Formats: sequence, structure tokens, C-alpha cells
Amino acid sequence: MTPDHGPLLYEGKAKRVFASAEADQVLVEFKNDATAFNAQKKAQLVDKGRLNCQISARLFELLEQHNVPTHYCGLVADTWMQVQRVEIIPLEVVLRNVATGSLCRQTPIAEGTALDPALFDLYYKDDALGDPLLTEARVQLLGVVKADHLSAIEQLARRVNEILCPFFNAIDLQLIDFKLEFGVTSGGELLLADEISPDTCRLWDRRRTDANDRILDKDRFRKDLGGVMEAYGEVLKRVQSQCPIPRNCL
Ligand code: TMP
Ligand code: ASP
Repeated sequence: MTPDHGPLLYEGKAKRVFASAEADQVLVEFKNDATAFNAQKKAQLVDKGRLNCQISARLFELLEQHNVPTHYCGLVADTWMQVQRVEIIPLEVVLRNVATGSLCRQTPIAEGTALDPALFDLYYKDDALGDPLLTEARVQLLGVVKADHLSAIEQLARRVNEILCPFFNAIDLQLIDFKLEFGVTSGGELLLADEISPDTCRLWDRRRTDANDRILDKDRFRKDLGGVMEAYGEVLKRVQSQCPIPRNCL
């Protein structure tokens, strides 16, 4: 079902953003498009939009219950959510609990090394530049975020990690790392935005030991492991067992 919506405001790789009847809110449609390696690899994954929308909605609700301010207002359809209108800060905020992915490609840190405290990494959100890793000095130089918002972003990202790790543990999933995006409302409020889903998190199944079998996130697509939607479906099934009823806007 497609809800009533206003004009398309923005189209990204995985979502479309439309105007809504409320001036300070927008409607987000989750797409089935999957991309990796800065969109060099592309596919349509049937049902991905619904799975990511439903998983994200529940995780945003969980975070709201723990007083993390998010853009989430409610679900309006299987693949649509209503959110606060924000200006997205062009930073990809990554928290890593276990070393893998780009950290192991770019440094000699061994795959699987536990990172405690979690490693906080910032990337500049710019496809043309390939989302480069930033230093704090480069973030300041770019001027994309106010200093007080940057420290708030690190605190919120660590808080999100403290909430999500035990939540996922309880459903036999290990949160390896994840990417967050933040936005600022017209009133200047900093909110967690975008999505939290197997597209943006690495989740390993604690019920499996095989290094490939345990992957329940977009790495299945990146590494051509197959069973991508089955993995996302398993994540939703387990998340739903803890967060059954997402808030509806309508
Ligand atoms: P990385 O190890 O490739 O840097 O990824 C770190 C985390 O960020 C991982 O959970 C996947 C997520 N991520 C995104 O959500 N979008 C991206 O464009 C990239 C590169 C990673
Ligand atoms: N999100 C990036 C892309 O769409 C990269 C990734 O997730 O691996 O290309």
C-alpha cells in the first residue's frame, strides 16, 4: 500500500523521501535496491524495503524508550515510515565492537579483535569521494557539524551501542559494528536519523559458528554468500519477538 504523500524531496540509494501533510515531517519509503562498494555493485532484493523498514521502526522505538532522540514518528505502511524533517549532517558515524571490514583492510588489526571501548569512526558522506575516513581536525575544517553537536553525536552513538548490544544478545545476535546518521531539525534539535537495519549493521548469529553462515547482514550481498533476504528475515523475526508492535501514525 502506498500512503498519500507529497512531492519527492530526495532519492538516495536505499530510500526515497517525500513531503507529508505535516510541514515538519516527511515520509520515507524503503526501496528494494541494494548497492555495495559505492554503488559499483547493484541488485534488486525482493522484500528488502519491507524488512529494513520494519526492523528500523522497532529499533528506533526501542531507542526512543531509552530516551535516545530519533527522527522516527511511526510506521505508515509496510515499507513506509513517517519521520521528523531534518537536515542530514553529511557524516557516516560508525561504531565498531569487533574488528572487521574496512578497519581490517586499512590497518594490520586482526579480523575478530574485540574493541573495548568500541571504536568511533567518522566518514564524510559523499559518494563522489567514496565516503572517506575523517580525522576530528578534518571534521572541524569541513565545518559540517557544530562542536557541541559532534560531542553529542559520539555520546549518542555510544549510548545506542549500549542499548543495542544487550538487546541483540538477548536474541542471539552479536552487534559487530554499525553506521548511524544524524540530522538537525529546523528548531536546532539533534536527532538520530536514517535507518538501523542489516544494510547498516553487521550482525552475527550466535547460534552458528561458521564464519560465513553466521553473517545475517549486507555482507552476504557484498561477499556473494546468497540467502540475503532469508538472513534479513531471520533478523526481523528475532527483533519482532522482542518488539512486537511498532507505533502507527495513522
Ligand atoms: P566498513 O567496515 O565497511 O567501514 O563498515 C562499517 C559499518 O558501516 C558496517 O556495519 C556497514 C556500515 N556501512 C554502511 O552502513 N554504509 C556504508 O556505505 C559502509 C561502507 C558501511
Ligand atoms: N552503502 C554503500 C553503497 O551503497 C556501501 C556499502 O554499504 O557497502 O555502495
